[in-house]
Amino acid sequence: MRVLITGANGFLGYSLSALLLKKGVAVIATGSGPCRLPFQENSLFRYIPMDITVPAAVHQQIKLAAADIIVHTAAMSKPDECELHPEKAYAVNVRGTAEVLEAAASIGSHFLFLSTDFIFDGQTGMYQEEDPPGPVNYYGQTKLEAELLTRQYPFDYSIARTVLVYGNNRSGRKNILGMVKEKLEKGEVFKVVDDQLRTPTFIEDLSFGIWKMIEQRPKGIFHIAGEEQMTPYEMAVRTAKFLGYNVNLLQRVNASTFTEPAKRPLKTGFDITKAKKELGYQPVPFEKGLELTFYQK
Ligand SMILES: NC(=O)c1ccc[n+]([C@@H]2O[C@H](COP(=O)([O-])OP(=O)(O)OC[C@H]3O[C@@H](n4cnc5c(N)ncnc54)[C@H](OP(=O)(O)O)[C@@H]3O)[C@@H](O)[C@H]2O)c1
Repeated sequence: MRVLITGANGFLGYSLSALLLKKGVAVIATGSGPCRLPFQENSLFRYIPMDITVPAAVHQQIKLAAADIIVHTAAMSKPDECELHPEKAYAVNVRGTAEVLEAAASIGSHFLFLSTDFIFDGQTGMYQEEDPPGPVNYYGQTKLEAELLTRQYPFDYSIARTVLVYGNNRSGRKNILGMVKEKLEKGEVFKVVDDQLRTPTFIEDLSFGIWKMIEQRPKGIFHIAGEEQMTPYEMAVRTAKFLGYNVNLLQRVNASTFTEPAKRPLKTGFDITKAKKELGYQPVPFEKGLELTFYQK
């Protein structure tokens, strides 16, 4: 089996490439610049530069690669950047997805799209797959539009939605756990919001869920997330306690404390019953995720 990954230099792209290679799957990793993944020695691994906003490159590379399945993770994934640069966000998240879909359709590959809890309005939380969307920021809007395009794909497709992914980000970008460690290690105060609810997702659980979707090719939407609903403040406290740092350095604040360009949905988090039942997905408890994040080689 051959799997093509878009945005492979990213947080998920790295982890998923590593898992697929371990499973003996051929990986065609693609990204907007040079390869930043350390798998070049593996004969199952190939990297092809492919900016999804360049239609000719997308069509040419996807045709040449002839993958059985395309996992589309590439995105402008920071909500504030999307809010500040809406044209770029639309070009990458919507038009880029449309190009990848069109190229995938020309070879009839299975299409797996990565989406987000930010397609929901955050009023109720613990969303199920069929709950009505209602994004509150531009990032969520673009991801929803890309979902709708995916749902028109003429061949088999699936959509994996996830929530606030954490873990050892070998691709570089720091997530909340890394920030807690960095600040508290230096004895600095760290302000964290306590009025948003999420079901934080351990990166390796997400990769495993996607692996199951690659293996089983179920059709439709799946919520792949952690099981425990908590606020970012609670995540930070549990991280500080786990690492033995001074919890008093963590300051509980409201989203209104920060002047962020993009509004955040208040309560999200996913009901993952469908993924557990149909895919055999089972995420680790948060403390196990912490152990794997900080102590796994
Ligand atoms: N991380 C989360 O908490 C989270 C939560 C919900 C949903 N998601 C979704 O999950 C997917 C993966 O997220 P992630 O955390 O792995 O994000 P990420 O680390 O930001 O990775 C996204 C990748 O897309 C690449 N990219 C951006 N523009 C591109 C373009 N024009 N052509 C080709 N590649 C391009 C980026 O390249 P550069 O590295 O070169 O910038 C980056 O490597 C995304 O679709 C995101 O919307 C993530």
